[in-house]
Amino acid sequence: MKENTNKYDFGTVTLDDKNSELIILDQTLLPNETQYLHLKTQESIWDAIYQLQVRGAPAIGVAAAAGIYLGVKNSTTTTYDEFYEEFMKKKQYLASSRPTAVNLFWALDRMEQCVKSNKDKSIEDIKKALLQEAHAIKEEDIKVCKTIGEYGLSLVEPNIGILTHCNAGALATAAYGTALSPIYLGQEKGYNFKVFADETRPLLQGARLTTYELHRAGVDVTLICDNMASSVMRNGWVQAVFVGCDRVAANGDTANKIGTSGVAILAKHYNVPVYICAPTSTIDMNCATGWDITIEQREPEEVTEKWYEKRMAPEGVKVYNPAFDVTDAQFITAIITEYGIAKPPFKKSLKEIFEKKESADHSTSL
Ligand code: MRU
Repeated sequence: MKENTNKYDFGTVTLDDKNSELIILDQTLLPNETQYLHLKTQESIWDAIYQLQVRGAPAIGVAAAAGIYLGVKNSTTTTYDEFYEEFMKKKQYLASSRPTAVNLFWALDRMEQCVKSNKDKSIEDIKKALLQEAHAIKEEDIKVCKTIGEYGLSLVEPNIGILTHCNAGALATAAYGTALSPIYLGQEKGYNFKVFADETRPLLQGARLTTYELHRAGVDVTLICDNMASSVMRNGWVQAVFVGCDRVAANGDTANKIGTSGVAILAKHYNVPVYICAPTSTIDMNCATGWDITIEQREPEEVTEKWYEKRMAPEGVKVYNPAFDVTDAQFITAIITEYGIAKPPFKKSLKEIFEKKESADHSTSL
């Protein structure tokens, strides 16, 4: 395995081809325990995504690409059709692990495309191409996140207060993160940001992961409960909101961790800009609006029992536990991608971002 030299790479997801395993940092145990899981089966990879042991839209995509490769690596099929059929069964299975982050489907589609474009090759060569593609998806994510960080940093001044929700940091990606990337790059330049991290009920990605990451990097970070965001904004302590996303629709409506839309509405009230950090792999031009995005519903116990010593709601009470919400485009100041910054009207600016991406893809394939 290659040694990790990037300090913004936490070893979130590593494909160890030699040992035929996917190594992930178990995010459900952080910040108290640093434990890496060595996953060999499709079931354990599915479960790790579903249980949020690996989480965050880009990291889920990277894990799924490596996972599907491992799923077919030892395939004993001898014809292309048989191999493709096996691949598709495994693809469908991994795709059922979580519904909202489009990176999961994007990465699996990209792997399928890789199988198809190598149709004329031997099965062994198709497997080699899949291995390369899985590595490429991870390597690209690192570059994309760094570029988003550079664009994000260009939007803000030093010494400001920044509020973030959930965890869109190095733990949620291959490195740097998306929403935390400008903060890390700013830290290196002595920008001295003061970050407020929402704890992010019910799974506490903000409290457990964002504060862990930022504190470790020496960033000035203050943990707040979700219901305190309004108060810190009213105090004048926040000059920008940076968040990640799980799926951005073609009109700019954005699905991100539950609670994001409330933060964006508050920010509009207090005149604070809201920046969505979005790799193009998280933008779904096939979704016309946020209403087309499937929102994951999770177990009631995450609300009634998790983290508590004893149950904190009566048995049998109804619980609504959506993992994500949609922030309407009208509350978003800009969407920061690796191809530049999209501003309203997003229908037009996101289209332009994809035109830029296509012409860049075209020139590299020449
Ligand atoms: O349920 P999670 O923890 O996977 O949700 C993660 C988020 O909502 C992140 O903000 C999003 O995936 C962007 S990560 C760069």
